[in-house]
Amino acid sequence: MNRIKKIAVLTSGGDAPGMNAAIRGVVRCALNNGIEVIGFLRGYSGLLDNEFIEMDKRSVSDIVDRGGTILFTSRSKEFMERTGQLKALDILKKNNIDALVTLGGDGTFRGALELNKTSNGELNVIGVPATIDLDIACTEYTIGFDTAINTAMEGVDRIRDTSTSHERCSIVEVMGRNAGYIAAYTGISTGAEDIIIPEYNEYGDINKIITRVKIANKKGKKHYIIINAEGIGQSYDMAKMIETMTGIETRATILGHLQRGGTPTCKDRVYASIMGCRAVEVLLEGKCNRLIVYKDGEFSDVDIKEGLAETKPFPQYFIKTAIELESK
Ligand code: F6P
Repeated sequence: MNRIKKIAVLTSGGDAPGMNAAIRGVVRCALNNGIEVIGFLRGYSGLLDNEFIEMDKRSVSDIVDRGGTILFTSRSKEFMERTGQLKALDILKKNNIDALVTLGGDGTFRGALELNKTSNGELNVIGVPATIDLDIACTEYTIGFDTAINTAMEGVDRIRDTSTSHERCSIVEVMGRNAGYIAAYTGISTGAEDIIIPEYNEYGDINKIITRVKIANKKGKKHYIIINAEGIGQSYDMAKMIETMTGIETRATILGHLQRGGTPTCKDRVYASIMGCRAVEVLLEGKCNRLIVYKDGEFSDVDIKEGLAETKPFPQYFIKTAIELESK
């Protein structure tokens, strides 16, 4: 017999395209199974203010195609403290919440885990990975990544046009926090000459890049695109250095938050919908403290604590491929 009567859902941390599709999945699947749902606004911060909306079926109509999150999001400092977590737990208890479904990145899930600990295991917490960074080791897919890389790819395609016209070198900085996934995908998909990621410093050695820019220029190359990961940063300084050392006009563009917005791709809509539904299914199966993951071509779930403890090396085939694709 299913003990879950009422759940809450929230989105926390940086928003990610597809979050709305996941919220819709959670709400529809819960309501279809007789579970009441409320949505806390502005992540843990709204939870601490007891700001929520009742989620009926209409509340998630016409949102599958919308970027951002209808529940709003934030990063709450107050919730990081034990006093904040005790307060949050009290509010959840007063609202008769049996389980909290959180959409976000690892910080969001660590917060959820803290809540579970503080409640002595009473509050069931479920995590749905939603971050453009793809930096959660236990899953090969995170909601929003696909849209972000397509947006970044289109941005770089446009930059290449103007870069070629002016015969310039361009450094394009993409998001990803400390992870180089967005940079690797963007770089390979746009045929960038260099990709600089935190996981592989050697490839991004500035002196080697400068030498490569000079050689490419001698060979008559009309543009030189460098994709730099946010985790490396310093794009403006690098641009100055390349220009000084090569004599080739160089510009830096930081793509920034435009990578987080926009209508989600088909993949993000579909995978996020599945993950949202799966979050409720695991509750119906009587499971506790699970993280919904995508691994080896399957959607499944892992223990949140174990999932968060996982680490994974950056896939070598990205680096190998990028090097093999270099025009020598
Ligand atoms: O985690 C998603 C992300 O967009 C990162 O790539 C980036 O480092 C960070 O969030 C930016 O955060 P903010 O929106 O607070 O500037």
